[in-house]
Amino acid sequence: MDTALHSPAEQALIATAERVLPAGSFGNMPGDLVIREGRGSRVWDESGREYVDFLLGSGPMLVGHAHPEVTAAVQAQVALGTTFFANNRHGIRLAEAIVAAVPCAEQIRFVSTGSEADLYAMRAARAYTKRDKILKFEGGYHGMSDYSLMSLAPKRPGNLPRAIPDSAGIPASVRDEMVIAPFNDIDATAGLVREHKSALAAVIVEPFQRIIPPTPGFLADLRTLTAEHGIPLIFDEVVTGFRLAYGGAQEYYGVTPDLCSLGKVIGGGFPLAAIAGKAEIMAHFDQAKVGDDGFLKQIGTLSGNPVAAVAGLACLEILHRPGAYETIFKTGRALMQSLDEKLKRAGIPAQVLGEPPCFDVVFTTTTAPIRNYRDMLTADPALTRRFNALVRERGILKSEQKYYVSLAHTPDDVRVTQDAWDDAIEQLTKERSRG
Ligand SMILES: Cc1ncc(COP(=O)(O)O)c(C=O)c1O
Repeated sequence: MDTALHSPAEQALIATAERVLPAGSFGNMPGDLVIREGRGSRVWDESGREYVDFLLGSGPMLVGHAHPEVTAAVQAQVALGTTFFANNRHGIRLAEAIVAAVPCAEQIRFVSTGSEADLYAMRAARAYTKRDKILKFEGGYHGMSDYSLMSLAPKRPGNLPRAIPDSAGIPASVRDEMVIAPFNDIDATAGLVREHKSALAAVIVEPFQRIIPPTPGFLADLRTLTAEHGIPLIFDEVVTGFRLAYGGAQEYYGVTPDLCSLGKVIGGGFPLAAIAGKAEIMAHFDQAKVGDDGFLKQIGTLSGNPVAAVAGLACLEILHRPGAYETIFKTGRALMQSLDEKLKRAGIPAQVLGEPPCFDVVFTTTTAPIRNYRDMLTADPALTRRFNALVRERGILKSEQKYYVSLAHTPDDVRVTQDAWDDAIEQLTKERSRG
């Protein structure tokens, strides 16, 4: 612990966390940062240090922290009861709003986390097709289930399509149910789909994989390929839903899957996620429609939670107003362009990669476009860690992987961030010249 950086109160919290939490943390971020509060585009730690926040709670806070309209909606609902298990009007209205917004969504089922949404989307596809295998892409993130934690981040990627588990504790048999393909490579994917078509229950993809955009035509070709073979296509829209556009990546890239998972933004900062898709597949959540054999049992204590639903509805209402996405994209574009220019000017080999609401710098000497997980492995991990640390020291909060841009970020936040980048790049340049 750096005692120069932390107040005695924060030091005490960090010490307690180290005693009672494995690795001293909730598992998401290092335990040396304890956030006290957030408002708009800024957060403060327990030592009172202020940050321009590009972590956004790992994405949900797209309209900013403690937005007055979200807070008012939540406060009103808290006084009326916080969870009922039974249907409630706010969850029903949120489902209606999602069905109206998201192209593939004819019906939806609520769960509490994106991990669950992905797990049930894959299960629904299995129930529908009566097949077992799932094709996913190397480097694609679909939460924490046994099936999803395959070839997310293999340190030594093996021969595709063999899956490599990302975690201890996953039954060995699960890897045989997963087929791994390279993102943005339609020929390799088509070969695998043809080879496994009689066993494939679904193809699941992050349409915008981490920070890698799809190459032109890739998603459309994937749509055609899966449709040709009667294999449901699942878009994981936990990150992209209501972020790349109001209708998510499927609206933004113009390709409609059969099913999608949603999370983060739709819960407005509360635990709420969803599986959405074609009524024919969603029917497997309805025993009366599909009978005992086809029925997918799915129950969750907090599903459709009314507090989360009112928060989500308030966020969606704000995002639906004219100009919301233009503002987010304008901020993100300004940030991406200036980071790129600054790194070029400093002669630091790098690519700024992503879409304006979600991007990062990849420190690589490769000048060819980064198209998949293996291309990302050309990045210099030490340089990435150092730049992130320098930026953090200068009051910019982000995850190790990405900058999330919000509607609450202002031109002043952009200026503060640009100054922090200038300073961090200057320091990095000095350190690199010292070798
Ligand atoms: C693309 C994607 N899918 C699924 C998840 C899992 O969501 P959750 O953390 O809510 O379980 C995440 C989380 O970051 C994600 O980025």
